[in-house]
Formats: sequence, C-alpha cells, structure tokens
Amino acid sequence: MPAIDLSPTLRAFAAHADTALMRALPAITQPPVELHRAMHYALMGGGKRMRPLLVYASGTAFGAPLARLDGAAVAVEIIHAYSLVHDDLPAMDDDALRRGRPTCHIEFGEAMAILAGDALQALAFEVLTRDHGSGIDAETRLEMLRVLAHACGSQGMAGGQAFDLLAVGQQLGLDDLERMHVHKTGALIRASVRLGALAAGCRDEDTLAALERYAHCVGLAFQIRDDILDVEGDPAQLGKTPGKDAAQSKPTYPAIIGMQASAAHLAELTAEALHSIEPLGDSASALRDLARFIAERQS
Ligand code: IPE
Ligand code: IPE
Ligand code: MG
Ligand code: MG
Ligand code: MG
Repeated sequence: MPAIDLSPTLRAFAAHADTALMRALPAITQPPVELHRAMHYALMGGGKRMRPLLVYASGTAFGAPLARLDGAAVAVEIIHAYSLVHDDLPAMDDDALRRGRPTCHIEFGEAMAILAGDALQALAFEVLTRDHGSGIDAETRLEMLRVLAHACGSQGMAGGQAFDLLAVGQQLGLDDLERMHVHKTGALIRASVRLGALAAGCRDEDTLAALERYAHCVGLAFQIRDDILDVEGDPAQLGKTPGKDAAQSKPTYPAIIGMQASAAHLAELTAEALHSIEPLGDSASALRDLARFIAERQS
C-alpha cells in the first residue's frame, strides 16, 4: 500500500521541527564527541516528528506562531528519541533496526547508547527552560515543565514501559492493555497537545478538556496502529523489524483482540478524536489531518 502523505501544512511543520531540533543539539565536534555523535544519530536520523506536529497543530489552533511553540516541540521529540534508544536496548526490546538504520546501541555500543538517552532526556528539560524570545511567562513555563516531567516518569512513559516489560508472556485483559498503551505512548502524545495549547496561552478549561480527549484517543490509536504495523507492515516502509511483538510475546491489541477488532477500535478512536475537537472549528484542521494520518500511516 502506498504511504499516505502528510498535508502541506504538516510537512512544513515537520521541516520546521527538524531545523529547531538541529539548533537545540550540542555541536557534534564538542567533546565528548562520541556522546554527541550518538545523540545526533538518535535525534536526526529521520522519524515522522509526530509529537512536534501535535505541538504545532495544537498551538497554531490558538493562533501561536511556530517560534513560540519550538521549545515544547523540540522537548517532546527529544524525549521521544531518548525513549526509542532505550526501548531498543538488549535489556528491553533488543532491536537492531530503527528508521531504516542500525539502532543506536548497534552503532555506538550499549553504554554510549544508554548515556545518549540519559543526556537527551536532560536536554529536553533544559530546552524547555530556555527563553527563545517566545514570550512565554515563567509560571506557564513551570507548568509546561511539570506536564513534561509527569509524562516521562513512572506515571507516564517510563511507567508504561514497565507495564510492557512486566506483561511479557502474560494474557492481559483489555483494561490492563489499554492502561499500558495509555502510559507508554499516550502520555507523551497527550503532553504534546497540552504543551502546544499552554505555550499558545490557552487557559479555557473546556477547550483543554476537549484537547485532552482528542489526545487520549489519538495516543491510543497511535500505539494500536504501531501494533498493527508490527504484524502487517512493509519492512521497507517501516524501517524497523516487523514481527517482533509476537516473537517476544508482547501484549498488543492484535494479540489480544485480533487484527479485525484492532482496526475497528482504531477507527472508533479516530472518530472520537475528531468529534471531540468539533467545537474548535476550522482552527483545528491540522489536528484533524493528524488524527487521520495516525490512523492510516504505513510507517
Ligand atoms: C514509535 O514511534 C514508537 C512508539 C511510541 C509506538 P514513532 O512511530 O513516532 O517513531 P518515529 O519517530 O516516526 O521513528
Ligand atoms: C515503544 O513501543 C514505546 C516507547 C518507546 C515509549 P514499541 O516498543 O512498540 O515501539 P517500536 O515498535 O519499537 O517502535
Ligand atoms: Mg517496546
Ligand atoms: Mg520496541
Ligand atoms: Mg511497536
């Protein structure tokens, strides 16, 4: 199946994110060179930039210029890149291929990959504290730091990864499966949408709640699509080795409810995501395009 394309607006957001990410990294020539090379490798080697896209789509819905949203966009993508480096480690998923290239630990060794992940995580928070001339006040910035920290920690992504590891070989019920996905992938996706709105100055509780519902649904949809692609994805488009979840007895939606029911649930979640942002009208068109892309993506 051909890859579905991002809309021109989303493509422009992704290009903008790449430039902002490159700016945030320490120079590759700066010692310790090997560590900085590993960080560049993990962050700049492709990737759909889905989380920055969510930040930009959310923030621009409230009229914010992209530059005001760069700190949040860069921070969430750096956390994501770190999470992938650690996810691929031999002690975790033990993957050798990521984004069509050897994984960070294959290229740089396990110890340097662990450190690259550690340093990327710290860099994400540092970036969020910096003032890019964005005009975001200190109180909002503090709230943004709290949102990101919560999304990364034991009640967010790291907690989800722990649920994932603890569940290997277990027959999870649907509630536990959803809880795992909502943490390991959903937390950072929800944070991305919220950070975009906060950076843009949105404080309206009803609007933030609508965005939270949207983000909950696309976050879960994102990981269900990831699980489906692990079963039926084209390795050339995927850039990672398919079939790993079954080989490692991972609890996934296809493993527990089957492919057809997984696809149906993905469609329901996408419909609910779209429904929840109806009150935002035309301003949410990029968020709508993203929800559709997440459901149909081939990589
Ligand atoms: C893959 O994420 C890992 C999950 C959280 C499911 P992405 O599919 O966003 O990976 P890249 O960044 O595009 O490579
Ligand atoms: C990864 O989930 C989630 C995080 C990195 C937090 P997966 O293990 O399914 O991601 P892939 O399939 O390796 O990209
Ligand atoms: Mg994993
Ligand atoms: Mg993995
Ligand atoms: Mg996966």
